[in-house]
Amino acid sequence: MRILARHAPSNSLRVVLYRGLGVSIGMNTLIGGGTWIDCVYVKGKVKIGSNVLVSGHSILIAHDPWKSGEIVIEDGAWIGVSSTIIFPVRIGKNAVIGAGSVVTRDIPENAVAVGVPARVIKNRGRERIGDMADKVRGLA
Ligand SMILES: CC(C)(COP(=O)(O)OP(=O)(O)OC[C@H]1O[C@@H](n2cnc3c(N)ncnc32)[C@H](O)[C@@H]1OP(=O)(O)O)[C@@H](O)C(=O)NCCC(=O)NCCS
Repeated sequence: MRILARHAPSNSLRVVLYRGLGVSIGMNTLIGGGTWIDCVYVKGKVKIGSNVLVSGHSILIAHDPWKSGEIVIEDGAWIGVSSTIIFPVRIGKNAVIGAGSVVTRDIPENAVAVGVPARVIKNRGRERIGDMADKVRGLA
């Protein structure tokens, strides 16, 4: 089911399958194709809010024998394509993670963070808050 979830032909099916695997996912959230969410070696360690967009080919890692904690992605956040998120980390409400970034530390709400490791470069403009998932629905 994990492989099916990752490569499911639609965002909505992917969300349903990942929920079935123990990932907490809010309403109106999109998970892009090819995205791998850690949910086999650990259960219930990834919590994704509502109106979030996790763009395709991202990787969310939540297991490591020497670490504890979880990944929390708060409402309205946008994770750019091919990003890697390594727990324990909290990505704040409406934050944006640039394409290809590696997130290893908490990102505050409304921040735009890019790079490896991801660093905050600015705050997200008010006009771009809140509707990211709707804007790219069907494209992620
Ligand atoms: C993060 C992002 C939103 C920033 O866009 P923006 O606000 O227009 O920012 P800019 O393009 O002006 O970039 C600002 C700086 O950050 C750098 N930067 C932007 N995105 C970056 C990224 N993903 N990784 C590393 N650096 C990045 C730029 O090179 C620029 O650096 P400089 O000031 O030294 O020239 C955008 O670059 C991005 O990565 N979007 C994700 C796209 C995506 O994944 N789409 C999938 C849709 S499903």
